Amino acid sequence: MTRTIVITGASAGIGAALARHLGRQGHQLVLAARREPELERVAAECGTATEVVVTDVRRRAHVERLREAALRRFGHVDVWVNNAGRGITRAVLDLSDEDVDEMMAVNLKSALYGMQAIVPHFQERGEGHLINVSSFLGRVPFVAFRSAYNAAKHALNALTANLRMDLCNSHPGIHVSLVMPGVVRTEFAANALGGVPGGGPPGGPPGQTAEEVAAVIAALIEHPVAEVYTNPASAEMARRYYQDVGAFEAQSSAGSHRAGGPS
Ligand SMILES: NC(=O)c1ccc[n+]([C@@H]2O[C@H](COP(=O)([O-])OP(=O)(O)OC[C@H]3O[C@@H](n4cnc5c(N)ncnc54)[C@H](OP(=O)(O)O)[C@@H]3O)[C@@H](O)[C@H]2O)c1
Repeated sequence: MTRTIVITGASAGIGAALARHLGRQGHQLVLAARREPELERVAAECGTATEVVVTDVRRRAHVERLREAALRRFGHVDVWVNNAGRGITRAVLDLSDEDVDEMMAVNLKSALYGMQAIVPHFQERGEGHLINVSSFLGRVPFVAFRSAYNAAKHALNALTANLRMDLCNSHPGIHVSLVMPGVVRTEFAANALGGVPGGGPPGGPPGQTAEEVAAVIAALIEHPVAEVYTNPASAEMARRYYQDVGAFEAQSSAGSHRAGGPS
């Protein structure tokens, strides 16, 4: 089945890998991000009908324009992936108002704008799939220097769950899913507000590739579920965290979970 799929943050990293994966499957794509040349390059690699829409997801009007562009080109939308996001490298006591505003704008309000733009369309059609790309740090905030990013992703997890609860009885044909990657080898760490911890090159555990994460999201589109960790080890780690937060943090600060700054 050919679907029309909107992806934000499609110019690089996970979003670009997802676009290429879904393009190979023959889906029609609408790719959004701020950098047009990179979007055009990804679109050329998709091998399928693709619309590029320059979008700053921090601006509600841009996200609404993205929906309009998708509907104008393809007539309807089946799947909307709120993937755009950005990290931060700043301890809680060092956070400025601007830091917090940026983290909330790019990681939380962006997805809210996406949800509010597309879900009424899904409601009219009685079907659709909304996917929010969060982070394992939105479930377990064990990397302290990601601070306001962790907070924004926790808030995103909550809004995603609440939207799903709002729709489950009235619109059973609409799926709402949360994706929580662990460490993924993209430019995420380099693009974080405040840069890479210590100012050096990104280090730490290798993590998954963007292609591996894209494959998980593509499978989610075929078989919708409420939540998915892209790293199979994450569910057990979350269970241990919520079983005894103090013990988990003590172990983390002893170094076992800190290296590399997962995102
Ligand atoms: N990499 C990881 O380790 C990791 C782990 C867990 C979760 N995640 C989540 O996965 C998602 C994708 O991250 P990634 O690893 O692919 O990061 P990335 O390589 O830095 O790519 C980020 C993407 O988001 C776009 N973007 C950033 N700010 C934007 C804005 N204001 N408006 C529109 N687009 C914007 C960027 O495009 P432009 O610069 O062209 O706008 C780019 O396409 C994020 O939500 C991130 O939080 C990543």
